[in-house]
Amino acid sequence: MIPIAKPFLNKEEAESAYETVMSGWVAQGPRVEEFENKFCEYTGAKYSAAVSNCTNGLHLAMIASGIGIGDEVICPSLSYIATANSIKYTGAVPVFAEVSPIDFNLDPAHVKSLINSKTKAILLVHQIGMPADIDEFKKICRDYNLKLIEDAACAIGSEYNGVKIGGDSELACFSFHPRKVMTTGEGGMITTTNKNLIDRIKLLRQHAISITGKERHSSETLTFEDHIEVGYNYRMTDIQASIGICQLDKIEYIIKERRKIAARYISELGEIESIKLPIEPKGRISNYQSFAIYIKKDSGFSRNEVMQKLMIKEISVRKGVMTSHREKAYSDHKPVIALPVSEDLCDNSFMIPLFVPMDDNDIKHIISSLKNIFVKK
Ligand SMILES: Cc1ncc(COP(=O)(O)O)c(C=O)c1O
Repeated sequence: MIPIAKPFLNKEEAESAYETVMSGWVAQGPRVEEFENKFCEYTGAKYSAAVSNCTNGLHLAMIASGIGIGDEVICPSLSYIATANSIKYTGAVPVFAEVSPIDFNLDPAHVKSLINSKTKAILLVHQIGMPADIDEFKKICRDYNLKLIEDAACAIGSEYNGVKIGGDSELACFSFHPRKVMTTGEGGMITTTNKNLIDRIKLLRQHAISITGKERHSSETLTFEDHIEVGYNYRMTDIQASIGICQLDKIEYIIKERRKIAARYISELGEIESIKLPIEPKGRISNYQSFAIYIKKDSGFSRNEVMQKLMIKEISVRKGVMTSHREKAYSDHKPVIALPVSEDLCDNSFMIPLFVPMDDNDIKHIISSLKNIFVKK
């Protein structure tokens, strides 16, 4: 079976984690700081904070933005449920907006129509690595005095007008889950252009302790900590960070290879009239965290039928990005907003394997299997 995804992990990551274990310092410490610095260098971000995962990163980003009970935050329903949940954790209400069928990202016109006096922020997702139209949303946020938080869980290394995602963001949160382009097992990173925000996030991620472990360990005088507000334990470990540092050394290569495979899928599957393939809008570069195929209504095939046929050919497939509003957890959710485009994209698209390194014969097998399905019809 060709897997849907596979992390690009080698001996270097294992050796790096081994060294950290043997150093005796395994919790958040010098390796986390090194990883953060390296992440800033790669993305161009001014400040960064590593966290235990992207969901927790989004939660901290919400709190640092002052989001709380009674507020509304506009976000897509067409996203992994963690997007909406991170808003719920604060007591605020996720307001689900429609997405564009071109890039699977928030539709600015629909977002604008949902803004009211309770709206405090937009949570903009760069879905499966395809950058959303950031400038458009920055403008909306300026015009309506809203915060812009970017859910960049899938978008490390993707670019918008020559800038890496998170490189010039008020707040962007990344995921290092193994299904993502680079991994630390579990893990996340927040980037920001704002020093006050990063200071608050770094405080909240470790129980709001007034002095850091590093300060205490390097102090020559007796120092006692205070806990200055109710914080969280959202720390990344040094073991995870030591893996992340190695992954960042390889990220350019990983993305280059992913883009080569995506380009091959696009050029070779482009002749199939019954499907729609990803399109990069002008100025936007995707890391192709996933490769989604949409099946047109007149294809004569249901999405599940196509997925089943590929599975028989030993090709792993996954259904399209989920809609949060149709999950049981949100069955009583209000406001109820019609989201026909999101539901259509969710129900009629699916993902095919894309990872590095991918065997050439596997790529050929996936392409020919898809061609056979539609040609044989
Ligand atoms: C869009 C989006 N947001 C948030 C998350 C949550 O990331 P994590 O698993 O690191 O908490 C994911 C993970 O799949 C995601 O795809």
